[in-house]
Amino acid sequence: MPRQYCGARAAGTGEPFPAPTMMTDDPKRMERLVSLCKRRGFIFQSSEIYGGTGSVWDYGPLGVELQRNVKEAWWRAMVLERDDIEGMDASILMHTRVWEASGHVAGFTDPLIECGSCHRRFRADAPELEAGRCPVCGARDAMSEPRKFNLMFRTFMGPVEDDAAVVYLRPETAQGSYVNFQNVLTAARQRIPFGIAQIGKAFRNEITPGNFIFRTREFEQMEMQFFVEPGTDEEWFEYWRGQRMAWITSLGVDGRRLRFHEHGPDELAHYAKRAFDIQYEFPFGWSEFEGIHNRTDFDLRRHQEYSGKKLEYVDPVDHERRFIPYVVETAVGVGRTMLVLLADAYREEQVGGETRTLLSLHPRVAPIKAAVLPLVKKDGMPELAARMHAALRAAGINSFHDDAGSIGRRYRRADEAGTPFALTVDGQTLEDRTVTVRDRDTLAQERIGMDQVVAWVRERIGA
Ligand code: GAP
Repeated sequence: MPRQYCGARAAGTGEPFPAPTMMTDDPKRMERLVSLCKRRGFIFQSSEIYGGTGSVWDYGPLGVELQRNVKEAWWRAMVLERDDIEGMDASILMHTRVWEASGHVAGFTDPLIECGSCHRRFRADAPELEAGRCPVCGARDAMSEPRKFNLMFRTFMGPVEDDAAVVYLRPETAQGSYVNFQNVLTAARQRIPFGIAQIGKAFRNEITPGNFIFRTREFEQMEMQFFVEPGTDEEWFEYWRGQRMAWITSLGVDGRRLRFHEHGPDELAHYAKRAFDIQYEFPFGWSEFEGIHNRTDFDLRRHQEYSGKKLEYVDPVDHERRFIPYVVETAVGVGRTMLVLLADAYREEQVGGETRTLLSLHPRVAPIKAAVLPLVKKDGMPELAARMHAALRAAGINSFHDDAGSIGRRYRRADEAGTPFALTVDGQTLEDRTVTVRDRDTLAQERIGMDQVVAWVRERIGA
């Protein structure tokens, strides 16, 4: 299966927006974002106290909230707000024949080159490979010929570790939707066109993972397979291309840093008739974070062939309407979407002679929606703040009660966590039961009644 590498891709085609000039010209920007993510509890290296594990990451208290909000926003747009898409959750371990049928056993490979001197391995198309020279130890003429390396993780089902017991950790969620196509169609009494959506873990033994959470060995995907009548696939493909770009911009991502990239003939996966990536201009350059693929009837046909079970659609009303459906797939990583949101939201600003670092996350995805701050720890202010905090929590709104340090420091902490609203209980609150609301991005302040706070925040986070 031809694999696509973000770094190797040519500049995109069909750009909907003018190309921005910022971001990539500051090489330290990514470092500072990674450092903020650790410091504030978004993302930690896995097994850090043992020196870390290669390209797997753990999400901390703020990271897990951001992750949940991303998944919820996707599920809402793809399942809850539509009648024509059903959700499901297939298992990670599947029958080995699934991966034979899908082409992954034979073809989900990267070309790999090994240094005969230091035994480091590299992807054959890695840009740092100079002709005949190892980029790590510098040995000359020690590099092997490229050989194929399958990216699927293998393990064994049951107590006997032999070839018959081999199973794979799935490298994509899509196959779980294909093998359940008839089950979902019948159980949900759907008619074509309709889709199956899944959010779940996938695993790939990437040879050169990296760029923080951009390419990891364990990751989560949000994938939707839309089953359509052959001949209508191109129209649906265009529809989903538009929908997916609209989704990411609805989460506040700057449209000037988004573009489509159409796969050329040498980039197309074997199953794809047509494919577009949505790319983002990360601090390390333009790279894919979502793919929209016209997978034709390839997967269903192969599963029909390998399983011997009919995967034809027969319309429940018009029995003459029967065909193996084409599939338009939308596939995006949870972690990669988080990286888009974090990179897009990261700002450094000069305010009053000091640098203010903030994450300008859209209120819908921000991990904490409101910081509740008593101006001083006396005169009943902490009690009023605690009451407001409890009301927000009871309404399912994640708020944070912070009374430690000066108000300026507390604002800075909230800004770095991406908290869109800071609600301060001050002297005037004692008199008229209003609080100051400070907007993270504009620093504008207004006063609202304490009893309106829950509704006010809820309206702005779209809950
Ligand atoms: N079912 C089709 C499929 O898996 P893909 O382009 O290989 O297509 C879809 O993957 C999305 O999954 C990518 O756009 C990316 O967001 C995410 N993804 C793929 N490999 C990843 C990795 N190693 N680490 C993090 N995310 C990854």
